[in-house]
Amino acid sequence: MSFVEYSEFIQEGDVVIIFLGHDSMMPINVKSGAQTQTRYGAIRHSSDLIGRRFGSKVTCSKGGWVYVLHPTPELWTMNLPHRTQILYTTDIANITLMLDLKPGSIVCESGTGSGSLSHAILRTIAPSGHLYTVEFHAQRAEKAAQEFKDHKVDHLVTVRNQDVCKEGFGVLGVADAVFLDIPSPWEAITHAKKAFKQKGGRLCSFSPCIEQVQRTCEALMEQGFEEICTLEVLQRVHDVRSVNLPLPDFGPEDGGAESAKMTTEPPLEEVPPSANSGYTSVTCRTATPPREMAGHTGYLTFASKPRG
Ligand SMILES: C[S@@+](CC[C@H](N)C(=O)[O-])C[C@H]1O[C@@H](n2cnc3c(N)ncnc32)[C@H](O)[C@@H]1O
Repeated sequence: MSFVEYSEFIQEGDVVIIFLGHDSMMPINVKSGAQTQTRYGAIRHSSDLIGRRFGSKVTCSKGGWVYVLHPTPELWTMNLPHRTQILYTTDIANITLMLDLKPGSIVCESGTGSGSLSHAILRTIAPSGHLYTVEFHAQRAEKAAQEFKDHKVDHLVTVRNQDVCKEGFGVLGVADAVFLDIPSPWEAITHAKKAFKQKGGRLCSFSPCIEQVQRTCEALMEQGFEEICTLEVLQRVHDVRSVNLPLPDFGPEDGGAESAKMTTEPPLEEVPPSANSGYTSVTCRTATPPREMAGHTGYLTFASKPRG
């Protein structure tokens, strides 16, 4: 198993995502002889996992069942151990698109944090690209490096434990893209510029506050970056619920009993007109967006480094 290539069968040492429900999953490391407890009972790694096909339905010791899924960057983002705030799929999708990432891209990133974005970058740039990721918190850098090894993507990534604002990315003139998720991105723009290839490239900076965005844009302009633009990606969840829709009474139908039956038959349930309204209402299932939308995570500022 690797996070950048699918395998058919589960093996010792693999990461498997145990799917108990859409909002209940957990990643486990497969180890012969080990057991994992779930609310449906125990999963025995040797007999229930090793040698089984990824995606199988596995019956636990109490008779309930789970799916055992192949890990992907999306599932990892939903289930990874949080050591920091992380980036989610809505932002990640935009970042990989707008940074023009593809197999073979060379990317510089800081900070590594919990590695949520890093895993998505690695899948996109495999098999021949490389990620240089910089994290100044020693344990976070160490943990991320260990996870990249466990997930068999370590040949695609170099983790450096240093301050990107003081020491840069540890590489010069190689990057196609640079990504920043640090509190003071404006302090890393000169290092970002030096990390890019001569032929230009794309930069993205993620910041929760608009004041950080302003300072970053100023630094980008001072350093000659072009096409600077900031956007916010918000996910709008629709609630499925029943609503009553009033239908005016248009009087008797022409066209016979069959036609009248078709037009008056409500989708679900018809509520008779109240004494003085003259309206019939139908109850139907529909999806509605929330009136107020929470969910701000941050602003994405993109810019291009001119060629030369
Ligand atoms: C919000 S987290 C990054 C999360 C990451 N994008 C993810 O998706 O998991 C920010 C990280 O940047 C690191 N950091 C902050 N300032 C830094 C700097 N100047 N140099 C290197 N790392 C830095 C922090 O230690 C933290 O781990």
